[in-house]
Amino acid sequence: MHLEKKLRVLSGIQPSGALHLGNYFGMMSRMIKYQEENELFCFIANYHAMTTLPDSKTLSSNTFNAACDFLALGLDPEKSTFWVQSDVPQVTELTWMLASHASVGLMDRATSYKDKIARGIKPNMGLYAYPVLMAADILLFDSQIVPVGKDQKQHLEMTRDMAIRFNNTYGETLIVPKPDIEKTTQLVPGIDGQKMSKSYNNTIPLFDTDKKLRKQIMRIVTDTTDIDDPKDKDTPLFHLYSLFLDEREQKRLADRYEGKGLRYGDVKQELYEKVLDVFGPFREKREDLISNPKQVHEILDTGAKKARQVAEEVLNRVRSASGVNYS
Ligand code: ADP
Ligand code: TRP
Repeated sequence: MHLEKKLRVLSGIQPSGALHLGNYFGMMSRMIKYQEENELFCFIANYHAMTTLPDSKTLSSNTFNAACDFLALGLDPEKSTFWVQSDVPQVTELTWMLASHASVGLMDRATSYKDKIARGIKPNMGLYAYPVLMAADILLFDSQIVPVGKDQKQHLEMTRDMAIRFNNTYGETLIVPKPDIEKTTQLVPGIDGQKMSKSYNNTIPLFDTDKKLRKQIMRIVTDTTDIDDPKDKDTPLFHLYSLFLDEREQKRLADRYEGKGLRYGDVKQELYEKVLDVFGPFREKREDLISNPKQVHEILDTGAKKARQVAEEVLNRVRSASGVNYS
């Protein structure tokens, strides 16, 4: 029988704040599914978070908490390779080598850099080189598929560009990866209707107290359409609730929006209960992990060891191809 080779799937998440529904639907839940059939590489991008988070205590605790969130939600360290970015220092070496093949013109077109500056974040070299570090994260592991939300599409294009340039210069050395962006979850709206993001203060966190969770859900923006008039479905409340519903349930919700008597307050309460239903069962596991840091560190150490081994192999190929390994 011909055995098909498993695809290598990789993605990372920045520990820049509490993880939220956008992260879950855009990336985390899809990664957790991938681990069943593919070779999954998953990491916490603490070097990336450092570009916008200069507080050492917060960076450290966010990194630990993000790891606990992922594990609690079902990421299985036996089936995948799970680590913290800075535990595989090879990534910074590849970053430097790729930087020599990333044109300044390419870097200048990065919209996420421009957005961050526009939001008042002080420009620093780390922020500017962010896409190069991300390319190194991906290329260092011969990744083929990268599940992300739509906001990361350009970073994936830049990664492909760097890999192709590198290969054109030195011969086929790096695998050119493909993004995996899913239409229904590519852009989860925040409670204000903008993209849900840790940096916009508009998130619905995955794990918070019931009270804070309810408060955030009750703050989702709605309009003033009369109770008996049809309601707009292209709105954050409708989109957010739909993420939790199957096709039939979505149709039923759409009918309610089109009919009379729908109260947004009722829909928000239902969404609140749904979020508790879905994420409630993971809370205990998360609390367990948080109170057992030794166990979490062991998992991450084992993951880093596995990741370093792959990284070292790929990097040796890159060192030889580029002449860094001298003779
Ligand atoms: P944030 O914008 O909250 O800081 P990250 O940049 O750390 O989130 O994103 C981690 C992953 O989650 C990425 O793959 C990103 O594309 C995805 N993601 C983040 N926000 C959303 C969203 N609102 N909708 C869909 N995917 C998202
Ligand atoms: N930049 C990504 C984000 O903000 C996080 C990230 C870092 C990443 N390195 C990566 C995602 C490599 C995919 C692959 O979401």
